[in-house]
Parts: sequence; C-alpha cells; structure tokens
Amino acid sequence: MASMQKRKDNYIPALSYDGLTPLYDSLIRWTTPEQTFKLRLIEQARITRNHRVLDLGCGTATLTLLIKETHPEAAVVGLDGDPKILQIAGRKALAARLDITFNQGMSYDLPYPDAPFDRILSSLVIHHLTHENKIRTLNEVHRVLSDGGEMHIADFGKPHNALMLAASLPWRMFDGMETTSDNVQGALPEMMRRAGFIEVHESARYMTLFGTLSLHVARKP
Ligand SMILES: C[S@@+](CC[C@H](N)C(=O)[O-])C[C@H]1O[C@@H](n2cnc3c(N)ncnc32)[C@H](O)[C@@H]1O
Repeated sequence: MASMQKRKDNYIPALSYDGLTPLYDSLIRWTTPEQTFKLRLIEQARITRNHRVLDLGCGTATLTLLIKETHPEAAVVGLDGDPKILQIAGRKALAARLDITFNQGMSYDLPYPDAPFDRILSSLVIHHLTHENKIRTLNEVHRVLSDGGEMHIADFGKPHNALMLAASLPWRMFDGMETTSDNVQGALPEMMRRAGFIEVHESARYMTLFGTLSLHVARKP
C-alpha cells in the first residue's frame, strides 16, 4: 500500500499519509475555525497592492486563494513540497479564475533568490517539520523576505488550558510527537528570534479539536 506510507524523507503530507490527502479540505473545514483564522492571518499581514506574498506549505491552497481573492493586485505564490497536493491547488485556482503561481520546493531550501517577498504567510506547516528543519525553514524565510518584510504563521501552539492539553494528545500521536513538540512547548517564538526576527509575538489563539492554534507575527529588521 504505497499510497498509505508515511513520508518522512523530505516532507510529511497534509494528513501524514498520501492516501488521506483528498480528505484534507473537509477535515480542516469541520475541525478548525478555518475561515476565521485564515482571514485573521491575512488581515494582520496588512498586504498592499504591490506586495509579493508567499504562502509557505500552501497545501490545497485554501489560504492562497483567500489571499488572492482579498488582494487581487498583490503577486501571490504558493509553495509546497508535495507535487500531488499542488495539482489540487492548481485545479482550485483555475476553477476560481485566480492568477496564482505554484512552485514545488522544500521550506528549508527555498527555490528563490534573496529577498523577493514582502510577506510570507504559512498555515499548519511548521508542526510537520523536525526541529532541525524548523530552524532551517525559519532561516530560509528570513533570507527570502525583503528588509522590513513580515512572517505570519498559524500553527499549533502551547495549550492554553487543560481542555486544549487533552485535545492535543491524540492529534500529536497521529501527527508525530517529535515534530509537534516545539509547538506545544511554546518554543516557536524563541526559535523565530534566533533566526533574526524581531517584534515576535502571538497575535491570536483559537480552540480546535486538536488543541490550541496560535497566530504569530515576526518582522525582518
Ligand atoms: C497540514 S498541510 C497545511 C496546508 C495549508 N497550508 C493549509 O493551511 O490548509 C501541511 C502542508 O505542508 C506541506 N509540507 C510539509 N513539509 C514541507 C516542507 N518541508 N516543505 C514544503 N512543504 C511542506 C505538506 O505537503 C502539506 O501540504
């Protein structure tokens, strides 16, 4: 059952197993306040008409489409390591008649020169990365952002109450205890600072069936 194998070599698929990817959009829609937190992430990014925006780990491109719909004059790029999920993303952009560029590439080795982006948004990706690849990814995001550019991240964070702590355990066992540990220990802000970001802070948090979902903002000096 090759399609049900968990890929650990370079990226972990959206629902950990290739064969589950077609279920991804429905699952996230029903188990998280998806529209609310993705629109909030876009709003806090204060994207303007000339901005070049990257959706890092765009998956099925729900966030990428929302960025382009709300900011049609910004140049929007979606990047993901998984070529199969990028086919779904491309079909959704085509159906919505949105001009979005999709690139296949790894978050920790971005296929871009220095500083082409003004904003980098990312949703539910960092918890897929090993500790080392989180560090490499944050360094790469810093490299491809322009001076004064901003990173806006939505991902699982430190559980903010006992209910969220309990909710996070089954999900962590499914998604991977190792890759999720920096998230639930609240280590991401300090890792962002170590990559050279300033003004790092948590801007919002939400309760989900998988535990606390946190939004973070960070700026390249
Ligand atoms: C849980 S999905 C999130 C998708 C989308 N951002 C969203 O919010 O719905 C995580 C995505 O990150 C991608 N991914 C995981 N590790 C990656 C890496 N190192 N580089 C690029 N993409 C990666 C996966 O292929 C998957 O599409």
